[in-house]
Amino acid sequence: SSVHAQTYVLNADSAIDVVSGKLISPATVVVEDNKIISVGKSNRKAYPKGAEVIDLSGHTLLPGLFDMHVHLTSDAHVHGYKRLQRTAPRAAITGVRNAKRTLDAGFTSVRNLGAAGYADIALRDAIIDGDVSGPRVNAAGPSLGITGGHCDNNLLTHEHKVFSEGVADGPWAVRQKVRENIKYGANLIKFCATGGVLSKGTKVGAQQYSQEEMTAIVTEAHLRGLTVAAHAHGTDGIKSAIKAGVNSVEHVSFVDDEAIQLAKDKGTYFSMDIYNTEYILGEGEKAGILPESLDKERKVGATQRASFTKAVKAGVNMVFGSDAGVYPHGDNGKQFSRMVKFGMTELQALQAATINAATLLKQNTLLGSLETGKLADIIAVKGNPLKDIGVMENVTFVMKDGKVEKQ
Ligand code: ARG
Repeated sequence: SSVHAQTYVLNADSAIDVVSGKLISPATVVVEDNKIISVGKSNRKAYPKGAEVIDLSGHTLLPGLFDMHVHLTSDAHVHGYKRLQRTAPRAAITGVRNAKRTLDAGFTSVRNLGAAGYADIALRDAIIDGDVSGPRVNAAGPSLGITGGHCDNNLLTHEHKVFSEGVADGPWAVRQKVRENIKYGANLIKFCATGGVLSKGTKVGAQQYSQEEMTAIVTEAHLRGLTVAAHAHGTDGIKSAIKAGVNSVEHVSFVDDEAIQLAKDKGTYFSMDIYNTEYILGEGEKAGILPESLDKERKVGATQRASFTKAVKAGVNMVFGSDAGVYPHGDNGKQFSRMVKFGMTELQALQAATINAATLLKQNTLLGSLETGKLADIIAVKGNPLKDIGVMENVTFVMKDGKVEKQ
């Protein structure tokens, strides 16, 4: 430790060890530079000299949260044809505001699962450079998808010749697209295995990429050391994605017992955006969501929640993924109470957003829990989320990488 090390002592009513589920009360966490150097019961005599003491009485300390499915460069009030008027630079600028909102909500890490124009990578790098503040962004760049599929843009007629940048068909074309995304800075890969709700003209339950293409994507990405997330609502697409070896399946709406068993056998994570439906059906029309998408949502939302309950019961690896960007950034924490309502314990919901997520990203030696030696991404909420998960909607203190970002 250097002579000029910045040291903080955080004193709170308690801290949650998300690995064991134990509550440490009262709790003191000591941070030096960007690392946690101790977590334990309060001991006033042991404070390091020159430390800045932060009083968080009435609060519970938790590790910084992960939202494993966001689109920071998308806005909830800009959907459907309105999105055609947004350039990638414009989207990057809105991403700056959304990154701050996400961080202030306690999410110190995100997976950005798709952005046009590599805007998410520009945003990630601007945050790393310290130009703007935001979470640690694990960025996918443009999502891979079939021609005319959920990850293409199907709003205009052929005369306009509009294709999303991630469109690639065939095993070698998708491998090349993975290589291209890596070339331009992606540190994970996202692809669309099935149709979706918010895309024009796609069948939400229908498979899109073939097994052969999905296997090619995953093989190439894993060869290069990247993890892979697959958008999949429909049963066949979910199964093909799991068989291909994806690290996580997103949405997972029409899952069956066989797919659940496959996921368990392979250790695949499910990332299920079960708050999203409330926003889409409540506010979506005003925001420009197409009538056909609202129709699809009516068939997906409730089923997805029942699937979530089944997957949790079966013991599938679960991570917290909200799809924020469809709904307002900063409201990410609203999903916690839904996760508990539909079958998780409070601890499981917190684990999904911390240690499980860090493990999926292979960052669990550095992040995901309050442990000596880990990076100092720490949040505080008023009250105890193990008793009232609703408190996760009001994060009052945020530290990222040893720096106080919100107090
Ligand atoms: N991006 C997703 C899609 O368009 C959102 C699905 C939202 N609906 C839901 N019930 N989770 O398919």
